[in-house]
Amino acid sequence: MSGGEHLQDQVLLDQILTCHRNEPGGLLPVLRDLQDGLGFVPEESYSAIAEALNISVAEVHGVVSFYHDFRTEPAGACVIQVCQAESCQACGSRELTAHAERRLGVALGETRADGAVTLEPVYCLGNCACSPAIAIDQQSHALVDKARFDALTTQWAQESDT
Ligand code: FES
Repeated sequence: MSGGEHLQDQVLLDQILTCHRNEPGGLLPVLRDLQDGLGFVPEESYSAIAEALNISVAEVHGVVSFYHDFRTEPAGACVIQVCQAESCQACGSRELTAHAERRLGVALGETRADGAVTLEPVYCLGNCACSPAIAIDQQSHALVDKARFDALTTQWAQESDT
């Protein structure tokens, strides 16, 4: 990150903290606003957040870790989520996830080295009746088997995939 970006990020963080500093339960709104603004919640922000809200850094860390929606690293250009919740698991989402990892060349929960794609777990997309479900850049797709996954993700497939 360049110095300019860091300064912009600091200004944004200060604005967000000013907005929510005196709000009961302000931690989640701070984290949401920060992720909306930056695309992730940098670990370097934890101490400033903790100080502003008069809580511990461990508490900030705990909440970021608990909620799967928060990222601590920038996402790739495309975010592909594979549902890991109960209904989708019963319909093969684990196999689909393993297929997605091979096909995209990235492990679940990580961003590929070229920054093209992030593969994330998600815990119910509200499409349980049509499991397994995935989302690509927040657009849901239901009844996704391996072939449908391949059709939906052709542009991010790694050439080494078989
Ligand atoms: S469990 Fe996967 S969409 Fe609900």
